[in-house]
Amino acid sequence: MTERVALVTGGNGGIGTEICRQLSSGGYRVVTTCVNPEAEGVEAWAAALREEGHDIGWVQCNVADFDACARMATEVEAEFGSVDVLVNVAGITRDAFLHKMDADNWRSVIDVNLNSAFNVTRQFVTGMRERGFGRIVNISSVNGQTGQFGQTNYSAAKAGMHGFTMALAKESAPKGVTVNTVSPGYVRTSMTDAIPDKVREAIIGQIPAGRLGEPQDIARAVAFLVADEAGYINGANIPVNGALFCSF
Ligand code: CAA
Repeated sequence: MTERVALVTGGNGGIGTEICRQLSSGGYRVVTTCVNPEAEGVEAWAAALREEGHDIGWVQCNVADFDACARMATEVEAEFGSVDVLVNVAGITRDAFLHKMDADNWRSVIDVNLNSAFNVTRQFVTGMRERGFGRIVNISSVNGQTGQFGQTNYSAAKAGMHGFTMALAKESAPKGVTVNTVSPGYVRTSMTDAIPDKVREAIIGQIPAGRLGEPQDIARAVAFLVADEAGYINGANIPVNGALFCSF
């Protein structure tokens, strides 16, 4: 069988990098999107991964922009081939209490974290259906399940992502395409580094595992879901949160 192609949006972020690593180790041809290659230092990022033995491709794309995603899909398919696996990771926070939140911070989080799932997935789902195989994983958050102080925008987007997953799973299952969500808890990345120290320490105190998650913990769940053998797991949400939030 030819190598499967996996596209990871925001694959050069904290969680994304580890997803790229694990998929590359699993034999996938991995490509990531990044918004601003220079500012994000994506060349150096790719070179460091190459040193480790991972040849990760990258394309510039603002996933909040539908037309940019259409252009990105053409570029990816021309250079790397049909996309079999899509992992929607790209996400941002703009935390503020709602009574202090401006409209830009509401809109940018909904655009980057939720509208992107439509903008990117829409480009690849037709091909997956036609080929009778596809794996889509949406990275949500425990805060989409529970709500969080300062995150009406982020919690709404992340909860919306799983609604998107469930509806698309029903549409896609007859065509051999699975769509699942992974909901990380608090993971050691620059995003959690930005939480005020006092608040972060209080959050860690509530995690039964007694620590933040590691990006590897999340990537493991993604690698499991995208496997060819995982075809009957569809429309599911896998929480990876150290028992911070348990539900049935
Ligand atoms: N839990 C409990 N109390 C919290 C809290 C939290 N998560 N966040 C804020 N508070 C409390 C503060 O401790 C403070 O209480 P006191 O007045 O008693 O000291 C009160 O709310 C007001 O907080 P601030 O003084 O910080 O007010 P602010 O307007 O300057 O900022 C805030 C508010 C933006 C919510 C800021 O506190 C903050 O950034 N909190 C962290 C929010 C958070 O948890 N974000 C998650 C980011 S990581 C992520 O999103 C990844 C993921 O998927 C899990």
